[in-house]
Amino acid sequence: MLNKFKFVTAEEAASYVNDGDIVGFSGFTPAGCPKEVPTAIAKRAEAFHAEGKKFKIGMYTGASTGDSLDGALARANAIMFRTPYQSNKDLRSALNCEDAPYFDMHLSVLAQQLRFGFLPKPKFAVIEVCDITEDGILYPTTGVGISPTIAKLADYIILEWNHNHPKELRGLHDIYEPKDPPYREPFSLMKPSDRMGVPYIQVDPEKILCIVETNRDDEVKGFTPTDEVTDKIGHNVANFLANEIKQGRIPQEFLPIQSGVGNIANAVMASLGTNPDIPNFEMYTEVIQDAVIGLIKSGKIKFASGCSLTITTPVLKEIYENLEFFRDKLVLRPQEVSNSPELARRLGLITINTALEADIFGNVNSTHIMGTKMMNGIGGSGDFTRSAYISIFTTPSTAKGGKISSLVPMVTHVDQNEHSVHVIITEHGVADLRGKSPVQRAEAIIEHCVAPEYKQMLRDYLKLSGPCHTPTNLHACFGMHMQFMKSGNMLDTNWDDYTK
Ligand code: COA
Repeated sequence: MLNKFKFVTAEEAASYVNDGDIVGFSGFTPAGCPKEVPTAIAKRAEAFHAEGKKFKIGMYTGASTGDSLDGALARANAIMFRTPYQSNKDLRSALNCEDAPYFDMHLSVLAQQLRFGFLPKPKFAVIEVCDITEDGILYPTTGVGISPTIAKLADYIILEWNHNHPKELRGLHDIYEPKDPPYREPFSLMKPSDRMGVPYIQVDPEKILCIVETNRDDEVKGFTPTDEVTDKIGHNVANFLANEIKQGRIPQEFLPIQSGVGNIANAVMASLGTNPDIPNFEMYTEVIQDAVIGLIKSGKIKFASGCSLTITTPVLKEIYENLEFFRDKLVLRPQEVSNSPELARRLGLITINTALEADIFGNVNSTHIMGTKMMNGIGGSGDFTRSAYISIFTTPSTAKGGKISSLVPMVTHVDQNEHSVHVIITEHGVADLRGKSPVQRAEAIIEHCVAPEYKQMLRDYLKLSGPCHTPTNLHACFGMHMQFMKSGNMLDTNWDDYTK
């Protein structure tokens, strides 16, 4: 029935891709990303380089990917440009020395910026599917990302048909691609479980260049077990939200949760799950991680809408074995819908994301180490934070064994600014920034969130400038960072060294 399509090896599929081509890849996080074709493109690049020839491609993805995509292409030095988010160690090294030029984007806007022509059009879309039909209907796997848009814009489509994902995934997805302004219509969802699209991606079958078959697992890494610090952060988040319900600032029936990526996010979800004062709830989020699946099983989470099932292999197997149980409790959407600010504002999302550092006035840096080195990217945190009902940022109060305070006089890079950040939570407590002046915010953060050994240092910093609206001392505001770079420990900071 599918005889009209050409089934090829990954190497043959990769042979169509040449130096200077732009390729869009499916998936979101390692979930739903192609694995065979990108690795084969990386090998092709290495072969070209061995002959002294140039070979680099431009790359669009939904978000981060697996090692066989970002890792392989970064190690092959085959990246002409890369956006919008990554978290691979080798790619991080490459982009931090400009070997792989990278631009960091809000994830909700990538698809529309491709359609608007702000960014060059992809020549190829490489898309992982769990099933296809002769007339060009594609059923995605565990991540949707920007697949509908790259499939539409690309000249050629290369499919990775991953038989590890059951065809019964059909129906899990809700695919909707909005019209562009001035014809855009409202996103019609009124609750996380509503649907507004179709359960597949329709493409022009004539564009399907070839199909590569595979059965490789998603490359989702496991989580480090929760520890004392992440557990305390989780408890503080859950207690804060329970109290907000008690005070009537969050409705009794609660509101949908968006939760960020990483270990802290996983720990926060676990705490929400065990706190008896948090009612059963729904998620309207970007990444559905392992903890969410456990809470769906226990009944604490009633429904989860996301862009990807970023689930470790054993947990994914469990979902596949019990697909009928999960079918009416999960939906996967393209990232311009999962991360839509319009929907975040309408649904009243409680957003919980992670900061690398925050300053005492409430500005948050989630992306840059010491202002210069890119960690991962802003991801969806900006899409959600700006439009949240309540936006929360969590961070351990210190990093690098206490030698870095995550709360500083001024962040070295701003991802979310003081106008959008409502609450900061560390293992020590909660700083509620709502309705507070900059000085009052600083006092709340210092007294409730800062590690004991850094409190006096930050109280002293606040006194360095005379009375003013935002007490910033331009000589000293990066003093703690400068001190870390000089002696390797922010605790050595002496404000006299930075003000005289
Ligand atoms: N200064 C310097 N380094 C710091 C630091 C600081 N203030 N805070 C943390 N670090 C280091 C840690 O020591 C760690 O280093 P290591 O890898 O050498 O051990 C590294 O940064 C990562 O910290 P960790 O606490 O393990 O991070 P995490 O897994 O909780 O992820 C973010 C935190 C911010 C990197 C991650 O949440 C992220 O990428 N966020 C942006 C995107 C986003 O929010 N997406 C969700 C929207 S839906």
